[in-house]
Amino acid sequence: MHFDILTLFPGLFTGAFEESIIKRAREAGLVTITLHNIREYAAGRHRITDDTPYGGGGGMIMKPEPIFAAVEAVLGERLETTPIILLTPKGRVFNQAVARELSRHRRLLLVCGRYEGVDERVHQHLATDELSIGDYVLSGGEVAAMVIVDAVTRLIPGVLGDPAATFEESHAEGLLEYPHYTRPPLFRDHQVPDVLLSGHHAEITRWRRQQALRHTWERRPDLLQTARLSEEDRAYLRQLEAES
Ligand code: ADE
Repeated sequence: MHFDILTLFPGLFTGAFEESIIKRAREAGLVTITLHNIREYAAGRHRITDDTPYGGGGGMIMKPEPIFAAVEAVLGERLETTPIILLTPKGRVFNQAVARELSRHRRLLLVCGRYEGVDERVHQHLATDELSIGDYVLSGGEVAAMVIVDAVTRLIPGVLGDPAATFEESHAEGLLEYPHYTRPPLFRDHQVPDVLLSGHHAEITRWRRQQALRHTWERRPDLLQTARLSEEDRAYLRQLEAES
């Protein structure tokens, strides 16, 4: 997978891509990331990348020309075939299903917006997709781009040691994940649930499934609308409803 990231602040990314899983994925050649400074594609001695909005109002708007020039120069003949993703709070909301969808591409180009916004012609005539990482406003798309690179990279085959790890974790099946424990069995007054120490694999699997269902039901009931549920899952949820 190759990521091209277009930003006015490439320095924000140092650190994020130089530790832990992304670092190892890059070292293994599974992922390559190139940062491109949009300012280098701006015209004139001052390389201006923003301007005041037509119609008035506060804030500065990112000009279209440097962004179009940067995307066209970076992609060249790949312009027609590479997803061009604009990070913006107006985009569709990024989630695990979108991460999986993106992980099937060989290349992605991410454009980080800044200031009060980006000229609408970038939204309309350049971006092929617009993503938001949640219903809040960041100072720019850079942190959102880091989130997307991270979530997509860990889905690339070979990046994580254990492929089952991405299958079982939170959201993979549309549910929150069950709780984890490690040694010691008793920490302060807090005991590891007996079932986990029992060695009964079928019971452990059932307990974990019920915990995942319970946590999702308590914290994110919206996820139950789309989760893959068995008849046994539904019976357990009915039991939770009846007890509440
Ligand atoms: N830029 C500013 N806020 C954002 C958000 N929530 N998601 C993606 N890009 C953004």
